[in-house]
Amino acid sequence: MNKKVTRIGVLTSGGDAPGMNAAIRAVVRTGIYMGLEVYGIVRGYAGMVENDIIKMESRSVANIIQRGGTILKTGRCKEFFEVEGRKKAYANLKKHGINGLVIIGGDGSFRGAQVFSNEFDIPCIGVPGTIDKDIAGTDFTIGFDTAVNTAVEAIDKIRDTMDAHDRLFVIEVMGRDSGYIALHSGIATGAENILIPEKETDIEAILTALMEKERRQKLVNLIVVAEGKFGGANEVAKVIKERLPDQEVRVCVLGHIQRGGAPSCFDRLIASRMGYAAIECLLEKRYNVFVGIVNNRMHYIPLNEAVKKKQRISEEWMKIVKILST
Ligand code: F6P
Repeated sequence: MNKKVTRIGVLTSGGDAPGMNAAIRAVVRTGIYMGLEVYGIVRGYAGMVENDIIKMESRSVANIIQRGGTILKTGRCKEFFEVEGRKKAYANLKKHGINGLVIIGGDGSFRGAQVFSNEFDIPCIGVPGTIDKDIAGTDFTIGFDTAVNTAVEAIDKIRDTMDAHDRLFVIEVMGRDSGYIALHSGIATGAENILIPEKETDIEAILTALMEKERRQKLVNLIVVAEGKFGGANEVAKVIKERLPDQEVRVCVLGHIQRGGAPSCFDRLIASRMGYAAIECLLEKRYNVFVGIVNNRMHYIPLNEAVKKKQRISEEWMKIVKILST
């Protein structure tokens, strides 16, 4: 792997995240500026396996910094998880003379990149793009800020009607394996309870608190649930209705609205910075890492570490939720 990288491929993989386009733009334009040829790989690893690869020019990424989704499209490719699929992918990259890769995606995408870079002589650089913010080694991932602000805006609106009717609302936000959107949007909207996959849920304690609040005539109650927790908002509401039949409970599942929309200024900035840093890594032969930002400085974390570790949620966050909802 000592050969100089001259021609690179860039792809987006896994769930899309607002700001992925800004990251593609940064990779393409920095790459070209530094003298590299840049190819876009369409639909994530599937494009590698199926040879869906297109030449990118500086103009190919014009007018996309403000757009959600990803112009390269994305996907989760089962074939790439098999060695035969990866061999096909490698052969296709070779056909185009591609000798370096930038993968914009989450931990599953990094897992694929790590395996691929161990098997073949193509260095891979990860750029963390996921609304879930569940990658250890970086304070931020592209898309989280936009997604959490979308959730906050929606929950604020629900609060108005919730307050008008003195109702209890159970709101489900995204995050099958990660509670960050629930935690941050829940704190920012004053939720009484936040249910996340990383922490045990004491449903009895929630029911007791609801009864206590009823006694104190605290009529408005907001519970934010991460989609992967306790069967989601519908399941939580079902238990509450069974045990507290007098409570008026409503459910709202925010769903994929959180993954779309124009990226926030913050997401555009980190995407631009990370995309630029990914090219620097390839040029400086800092291979098989992903680029993270910690305390506002760039960090380069070996892909295999990203695969091993998960972002952890500190106990302090949970304490804040409890104290502020009394
Ligand atoms: O990208 C991450 C994520 O949005 C998770 O929060 C969510 O659980 C999952 O993707 C949903 O995936 P899909 O769009 O394939 O249903």
